[in-house]
Amino acid sequence: MTGRFIVFEGGEGVGKSTQSRLLADALRARGLEVVTTREPGGTPGAEAIRALLLDKDGPAKDGLGWGTRAEALLFAAARADHVETLIRPALARGAWVVCDRYLDSSRAYQGGGSGLEDRDILTLHRIGSAGLLPDCTMLLSLDPAEAAARVQKRDAGALDRIGGRAADYHARVGAAFLRYAEAEPDRFAQVAAEGTPEAVHARVLAAVDGLWSA
Ligand code: TYD
Repeated sequence: MTGRFIVFEGGEGVGKSTQSRLLADALRARGLEVVTTREPGGTPGAEAIRALLLDKDGPAKDGLGWGTRAEALLFAAARADHVETLIRPALARGAWVVCDRYLDSSRAYQGGGSGLEDRDILTLHRIGSAGLLPDCTMLLSLDPAEAAARVQKRDAGALDRIGGRAADYHARVGAAFLRYAEAEPDRFAQVAAEGTPEAVHARVLAAVDGLWSA
C-alpha cells in the first residue's frame, strides 16, 4: 500500500503552512501516518540549499542574487534530495505526505516569474526527481491585496530574497499558477483562501475527499 502525496501551492501569504498543519491534524485523527514537510527544505541537505537560496545574508547578498538558471538548478537539487530521502520512502511505507510548495512553485516562480521555459523546469524535475508528481495539488488563491496584508502582518517587512521581489513579478507568478491549474484539472484542486482558517480547511477537506478510495 502506498501513501498519498498532497501539496499546497500559491503565492505568498495565502495560508499554505496553516492549511498544511490543519490537514495533517485531520488525517492523523483518521489514524493515518502523516509526514509534513516544506520546500525548499525538508531534509538537512535541502535545508542547507534553502539557506543558500533565501537568506538575505547568504552568498548571493547585496542584491546580486543567483542567476535565474542557477536558482532553478538549486531548487531542483534541493527537491531531488527531499524526494529521494524523505518523500519516496514515506510514500513507500504507506504514509501520507503533506508538503508546503513543490514543483509547481518552480514552474510559477522560475518559469512564470523569471521567464525560464516550462519544459526546461520539467526536464530538471525529470533528472532530479524522476518526475514524481503529487496526487493532489491544492492551489490556494486569494485577492493579492489581502495576501499582501497578511504577509505584512506575518513578516513585518522582513521578506526573504524571493518574497521581496516586485509586485509585477508576483503577479506573473500568480497568473502562471492559474494556468497550470487550469491545464491539469485532475491534478489540481483550486481552493479559495479567503475567510477563517477553519472555513478554508473545510474546503481543503472537501477537495481531498476523492483521494481516500483512489
Ligand atoms: P517560504 O518561506 O516557504 O515562503 P512562503 O511562506 O511564501 O511559502 O519561502 C519560499 C520562497 O521560495 C517563496 O518566495 C517561493 C520561493 N520558491 C521558488 O521560487 N521556487 C521553488 O521551487 C520553491 C519551492 C519556492
